[in-house]
Amino acid sequence: MTTSRPAAVIVLAAGEGTRMNSATPKVLHAIGGRTLLGHAIAAARGVQPVHLAIVVRHERDLVAAHIARVDPGAVIADQDEVKGTGRATECALDALPPDLQGTVLVTCGDVPLLAAETLHALLEAHAASQSAATVVTALLPDPTGYGRILRAADGSVAGIVEQKDATDAQLEIGEVNSGLYAFDATVLRKALAQVGTDNAQGEKYLTDVLGIARRQGLLVSAHVIQDLWQTEGVNDRVQLSRLGAELNRRIVEGWMRAGVTVIDPATTWIDADVTLGRDVTIHPQTQIHGASTIGDDVVLGPDTTLTDVEIGIGASVIRTHGSLAVIGAGATVGPFAYLRPGTELGANGKIGTFVETKNAQIGAGSKVPHLTYVGDATIGEHSNIGASSVFVNYDGVNKSRTTIGSHCRTGSDTMFVAPVTVGDGAYTGAGTVVRKDVPPGALAINVAPQRNLLDWVQDKRPGTASAQAAAAAAARDSSPIVPEGKPTA
Ligand code: UD1
Ligand code: CA
Repeated sequence: MTTSRPAAVIVLAAGEGTRMNSATPKVLHAIGGRTLLGHAIAAARGVQPVHLAIVVRHERDLVAAHIARVDPGAVIADQDEVKGTGRATECALDALPPDLQGTVLVTCGDVPLLAAETLHALLEAHAASQSAATVVTALLPDPTGYGRILRAADGSVAGIVEQKDATDAQLEIGEVNSGLYAFDATVLRKALAQVGTDNAQGEKYLTDVLGIARRQGLLVSAHVIQDLWQTEGVNDRVQLSRLGAELNRRIVEGWMRAGVTVIDPATTWIDADVTLGRDVTIHPQTQIHGASTIGDDVVLGPDTTLTDVEIGIGASVIRTHGSLAVIGAGATVGPFAYLRPGTELGANGKIGTFVETKNAQIGAGSKVPHLTYVGDATIGEHSNIGASSVFVNYDGVNKSRTTIGSHCRTGSDTMFVAPVTVGDGAYTGAGTVVRKDVPPGALAINVAPQRNLLDWVQDKRPGTASAQAAAAAAARDSSPIVPEGKPTA
């Protein structure tokens, strides 16, 4: 059965979240690389609502700015000083077209594991039973704190009673309100107008809508969910990490089923917005964050942290820390590499051991194998940068670029003092400080001729171990070398 799009999803996100004990509003805390609210928005968008409204109040401007960034199409609805989930929902309806009809879903901004599939299932159940309201419920071994579901004799829902308003008998009920609902828009609007604040918390409860609808003779149903994680909200940082770990477990398992080898799921962290190709292998202690995209057959880790990194087919990235970098197909990175934003390594290129790169385009097949800083540089194709080189990009005031051509061979310990250009096919000698452009095909050298001050150590450092070693070497060199087993002439 295909269900039509809901008229709206309303996400409630106006609450304070005091137990987070944080300067950051609760719904802006993140797991899996997305804020709690970002997860709620993603689930809501998954059912393609005609309207998406998000109710804000606590730290309103911070939350509204975040919404504008992640979902500019969402309607931001401000809740006034009247408290409660019912008032929050009413404020959302007030921000939506007055003639809104059809199904309205209500979800919470602090329930990050809710999946769009569950919203689809709720929509289908709600439509199939032709209910005026359907609440998603769960059977909990310990229902403390939740609203309890009151069932009528025919199994339909008679109402919801909050923990603080419940009788002792009602507190024995194990079926709870998950805080996720489908409503007929017209029923919801009319019922909310009748909801008062005469309860233990002095709030306008959304839950009262169900009893009101029932008393009007309308059908109210429950949709029982088995996967309790999907209904669990974050109230403190212990829950934040618990749900973060479970979210990660689900993401990692999903990728394994999609053809990714994960050697150690417990130490592998993959954000919700990452994409991985087939036959990727991930070694232990690897974190892949942000909107990273990893091509087929890539090998990652161990001990690698990548944020917003794009990696081409068949590359390998070992013991590396990288962000906002692009790594070409077949390239190799690490061990012990630091790729900073703006790094682009071409196909089959290499960024090797103890190499740091920033704003650096390194062409196809080019190699920076050892102990080097490449900052603000363009390197052509199939060039090799000698060990222990520095792209000297900063004169204390300004940053400048270095350009290296293709098929260059620059010597170990070359300093490229930017701005400077090295032409195609050029070489530099070991230890060169390149301050002037090098024409194509030239060899640049500027180290002074070497002078050896003979016996300097014996003269200036007499009695030291060095002097003794030098004396021993001199004695060896002056005695004739006799090959073993052959008679002396
Ligand atoms: C609510 C339900 C309860 C259910 C529980 C599930 C009511 C009256 N009770 O209780 O039956 O078992 O959720 O988690 O609805 N919010 C606003 N504005 C407000 C108050 C809350 O936007 O004035 C938002 C919060 O930010 C949160 C959601 O509504 O996202 C739920 O609020 P919360 O205070 O956690 O509700 P509970 O009292 O736990
Ligand atoms: Ca709650």
